[in-house]
Amino acid sequence: MKLSPKEGKEGSEVEDNKMKRIILFGAPGSGKGTQADALEQQYGWEKISTGDLVRAEVAAQTPIGREIKPLIEMGQLAPDETVLKILKNRLAQGDLVNGYILDGFPRNLAQAEELTRLAVDSETAIFLKIVNDDVVVGRLTSRLTCSQCGAIYNSVGNPPLKTGQCDLCGGPVRQRADDNEETVRRRINVYREQTQPVIDYYKRLGKLHEVDASGTVEEVSAAIAGAIN
Ligand code: AP5
Ligand code: MG
Repeated sequence: MKLSPKEGKEGSEVEDNKMKRIILFGAPGSGKGTQADALEQQYGWEKISTGDLVRAEVAAQTPIGREIKPLIEMGQLAPDETVLKILKNRLAQGDLVNGYILDGFPRNLAQAEELTRLAVDSETAIFLKIVNDDVVVGRLTSRLTCSQCGAIYNSVGNPPLKTGQCDLCGGPVRQRADDNEETVRRRINVYREQTQPVIDYYKRLGKLHEVDASGTVEEVSAAIAGAIN
């Protein structure tokens, strides 16, 4: 369930209404989607997940979706220009009132540089740090996702109330095609090779906040709130 931006801002410590961009990046399974949902609820900023956007293209069997489906299922990145085009289309929808949260973009230096060209009033890059691959593999091989609204569950820690059915929209809750152990380990390697350099990029810009993502969901949320405020 989404709050309106006004409702979401109530009670939060972030007061001005200039366009903000929060970037959440980190390894697969570091909790980007979970924390973006929490921020959306808390502040009313819109969550934009490039993973959700590319999966929607795949589900709709668009020409782009057909092109990128094998890449996603292999755990490789989709081409930069394709993801950037999808992201720009999303940003152009005109519903972003005072801020948005990017979940899963940028994934490499080229994407980070392109993003910087899309100016906003303020930008905070939050790196969700998690070092133990086995924790990530455990989280992702037990993750369940609503294929209709994208809600995130976990068969161990946070299952839907009714097996196979989303609590929020009633849609089907399933395992993602790329959440098997072999593909997860490949995604971790892709992250190390391509996404880790983004840490230094935001450090150089003075916008980087590093958050320990190995604690509970609530602990990570509290650390992110501290970084934002
Ligand atoms: P994407 O969907 O972004 O996948 P990802 O980056 O691999 O990240 P995940 O969604 O797997 O993990 P998450 O960090 O969101 O964790 P979550 O909160 O769900 O991208 C998928 C694919 O799309 C890419 O491989 C690529 O092909 C393509 N793509 C997307 N963006 C792209 C781009 N910019 N450029 C090119 N290609 C792109 O949590 C995971 C599980 O852990 C859940 O079950 C959750 O309940 C649980 N959990 C979360 N936090 C905690 C916690 N603190 N403690 C315990 N459990 C937790
Ligand atoms: Mg995600």
